[in-house]
Amino acid sequence: MTGTEPVPHRSSEAGTDRTGRSTRIDTTKPHPARVYDWLLGGKDNYPVDEQLARHILKSDGGATRAARSNRWFMQRATRWLVREAGIRQFLDIGTGIPTEPNLHQIAQGAAPEARVVYVDNDPIVLAHAEALLRGTPQGTTEYIQADAREPAEILEQAGRVLDFGQPVALSLIALMHFIADEDGAYDLVGTLVDVLAPGSHLVLSAMTADFEPEDVRRGIEMYAAGGVTLVGRSHAEVGRFFKGLDLVEPGIVSVPDWHPELAEGETHLGDGPVSLYAGVARK
Ligand SMILES: C[S@@+](CC[C@H](N)C(=O)[O-])C[C@H]1O[C@@H](n2cnc3c(N)ncnc32)[C@H](O)[C@@H]1O
Repeated sequence: MTGTEPVPHRSSEAGTDRTGRSTRIDTTKPHPARVYDWLLGGKDNYPVDEQLARHILKSDGGATRAARSNRWFMQRATRWLVREAGIRQFLDIGTGIPTEPNLHQIAQGAAPEARVVYVDNDPIVLAHAEALLRGTPQGTTEYIQADAREPAEILEQAGRVLDFGQPVALSLIALMHFIADEDGAYDLVGTLVDVLAPGSHLVLSAMTADFEPEDVRRGIEMYAAGGVTLVGRSHAEVGRFFKGLDLVEPGIVSVPDWHPELAEGETHLGDGPVSLYAGVARK
């Protein structure tokens, strides 16, 4: 498939959603959600995405491990939030193309009444949103097509499903490296965290060049050639996202090192850090 393809799901008129945002899938340029899907072994990607993913793999053999390790971090963190922190509401921004188990399946597997709101700005995620909406009858799952750089819009829509007077887990997993500082990365996280009730948690993973600077530099160049912004942040820069919050143990670590004892169904793909930091913090 080439060119642009309309996404029928939830479109108010051909090629746009109810806010007038384009829902056409551009298959001429690589998209982060689809490159990530390819790295996870998914089928919801196009030749242009596979081409970039293969290119990245040539210079960075760790890209597949990083993608899988990141996905497993989401699963462990969600288990921890439900079991240890008693969280029953989730706002997951930068959801990605559904890959089982998805966040709501982990959360509602442990707490069937859990409410989950997913947000992504890529039309291909919108096209697959049905898979994200098959939750438990006792709980709720909702999908919003919106841009993380417009947090007010997200909060307004998410507030129809989530009670912001009660704790919420805000997950920004492998999202913030697509948003540069000058595009308001820190401000938008601050805006979202500000509305959360005490006892809420921020769950975040983001790319770093601290471990494999050359591989990450080349990855950034390859994404840039495809028109995609990618930012590597240091440990301290990732730490700034958690300003004012209490990091839970073990703090900000490479994704495989965040509570590995909570792993279920993970396979061993290698040792040592991968180029993504992760942390969970309590408000
Ligand atoms: C690498 S995937 C991560 C998916 C999932 N969070 C995970 O960790 O498995 C990044 C996702 O963020 C989405 N994304 C990137 N920039 C975004 C933005 N400005 N607003 C909303 N979503 C965005 C992409 O479309 C993609 O689906």
